[in-house]
Amino acid sequence: MNTCSPDAGNVALRIDGLRKSYGKVQALDGVSFDIRRGEFFGLLGPNGAGKSTLINIIASLVRADQGSIGVLGHDTVRDWRSARRLIGVVPQELVFDPFFKVLDMLRIQAGYYGCGREAWPWIDELLSRLDLADKRNSPMRALSGGMKRRVLIAQALVHRPPVVILDEPTAGVDVELRRTLWTFMNELHAKGTTVVLTTHYLEEAQDLCERIAIIDKGRVRVIETTPQLLNRHPFRFLRLKLANSGQLPEALRPLVAGEKDGSIELRLERDKHPISGVFAALRAAGLDLEDVHTREPDLEDIFIELTHDHSRPAANGGAR
Ligand SMILES: Nc1ncnc2c1ncn2[C@@H]1O[C@H](COP(=O)(O)OP(=O)(O)OP(=O)(O)O)[C@@H](O)[C@H]1O
Ligand SMILES: [Mg+2]
Repeated sequence: MNTCSPDAGNVALRIDGLRKSYGKVQALDGVSFDIRRGEFFGLLGPNGAGKSTLINIIASLVRADQGSIGVLGHDTVRDWRSARRLIGVVPQELVFDPFFKVLDMLRIQAGYYGCGREAWPWIDELLSRLDLADKRNSPMRALSGGMKRRVLIAQALVHRPPVVILDEPTAGVDVELRRTLWTFMNELHAKGTTVVLTTHYLEEAQDLCERIAIIDKGRVRVIETTPQLLNRHPFRFLRLKLANSGQLPEALRPLVAGEKDGSIELRLERDKHPISGVFAALRAAGLDLEDVHTREPDLEDIFIELTHDHSRPAANGGAR
């Protein structure tokens, strides 16, 4: 699909026909798409969808069975030295040498990319931006989980890569750092860095990402701009609180999407279920309303819809 596209010069990552299996598990089942230069791109999907497998193949940590990856035109197998230099990957797993001190780890990593003392001011800036300055001489084993993740983020950025890939960087990270990290990533993005993010915090993806791919069972289910994705499903939610703890009429029960704190949330298809029809049904049943409001679908609703993972309702019971 990719090789002859007219905007090949605008492509940061070209993922072409990737397949990978672990024994009988088909982790990636033919994945092809491009990520444009300078994009803030979200890679979403349920647990086990294949996101980390894809990222680990891009980072050359895992070998694909089939297919290829190009990073700014450099093939990650044939031209791995150049490709590697162009990407910074924050892996999902916290892997590090427990005895190294934070600063040493970052300087060694810079050296690995051929950067010497000239990288030290940038390392200092990374330590300060990621709130690690007072931990610079701590051994890795003495850091908390969230701090270790910060060091891995700094490590991925040490050689100023034009493409940054973050595999669940905010897992186990406190709210403060999450904000700091996103401000920092937005700054890098504004300067032209391509940022690829996987996260299970869908509101994060909704706020940050310009385009999103949803992967499920090793395949790309959808790849769209965030606004397109949010507008793709013609439904909305209507939350009702019935007066005098009345019972919902039979005809409306199939529309119930969730219940919380005495409120009922109905999922209304725009063409099929006009709000006026709901009110008419309530009136006909002699029911009064105490409270009512509508809500547009957010990324979490779309995600659940697309991955059909109704076994995992939202943590708040579906009514938000
Ligand atoms: N090293 C491995 N050995 C065997 N199976 C693996 C290995 N790595 C991944 N898998 C399997 O491949 C599939 C995809 O896993 P992957 O880690 O890519 O998912 P993911 O989308 O990153 O999930 P999560 O959101 O939980 O991080 C899963 O079924 C997983 O069990
Ligand atoms: Mg993963």
